Amino acid sequence: MIKPLRKAVLPVAGLGTRFLPATKAMAKEMLPVVDRPLIQYSIDEARAAGIEQFCMITGRGKTALVEYFDRAYELEATLKERGKPEALAALRESSMQPGSIVAVRQQEPLGLGHAIWCARSFIGDDPFAILLPDDIVLSKMPCLQQLAEAYQETGGSVVAVTEVPHEHTNRYGILKVGADDGRMVEVTGLVEKPRPEDAPSNLSIIGRYVLTADVMTHLGRLERGAGNEVQLTDAMAKMIGNGPFHGLRYEGRRFDCGDKIGFLEAQIAFALERPDLGPAVRDFLRTYVGQL
Ligand code: UTP
Repeated sequence: MIKPLRKAVLPVAGLGTRFLPATKAMAKEMLPVVDRPLIQYSIDEARAAGIEQFCMITGRGKTALVEYFDRAYELEATLKERGKPEALAALRESSMQPGSIVAVRQQEPLGLGHAIWCARSFIGDDPFAILLPDDIVLSKMPCLQQLAEAYQETGGSVVAVTEVPHEHTNRYGILKVGADDGRMVEVTGLVEKPRPEDAPSNLSIIGRYVLTADVMTHLGRLERGAGNEVQLTDAMAKMIGNGPFHGLRYEGRRFDCGDKIGFLEAQIAFALERPDLGPAVRDFLRTYVGQL
């Protein structure tokens, strides 16, 4: 029987160097896209996919992320008193079920693989999702739900993949591909940040994964890879051959909000989708475009 997918890990302990000085005293994952912090997008996407238990991997200077999930009683009372039901509803959207979110510390940012390994007690033997909150996806069906369905189909690990320009393979985890039906590809190998001339394909992993718990055994060896970091990609590569492992060409558009251009694009794309903001944003964009 396929074990149900109920757990998610959200690593948020990175240094966010590409967003300095904004990230000097504030977590990158608290940067807002329109009016919600990045972390909220991942939480909402995971909930929509049936996730019930969350583990954030936090580090130094990330306390705002933990506090964000507290209930703001005084603020709620004030908003009620002042008759601001919309603001109150927006506030309540961020509240979590008691006991549904835990935070684990990664004492040193030794890499994404190391961050995930810090969640080993929370995971136990269960399959789990990983969402990197700096990636957000605009799609009809939430990206993680698409992965959760693929996990149900295959009974094994599934990662969300997208084609990247060949000259950019050295920025991503890249797949070596076996059977490919156009939607799902069989993963026969994985390489972290290969040079374009060494890349086995141009299919890259984005920040959405569903993995079986055996990845923890490989991560536990704490072997260093690209950039002298403990790489999740290297541990996943060791899982290949021990169970189904697929890449899913998800439907949707991914924005890498850890990168300035990706972050700016996300602001525009998500604002355009909003009925309350879209028309005004369209108007000012027309003005700017006219001046180019
Ligand atoms: P990034 O590669 O985007 O690194 O990490 P970063 O440190 O956040 O940002 P830059 O590159 O310095 O600007 C991808 C994800 O993995 C987490 C990050 O928080 C982010 O969600 N991460 C990375 C950790 O939790 N721990 C680490 O040691 C490294």
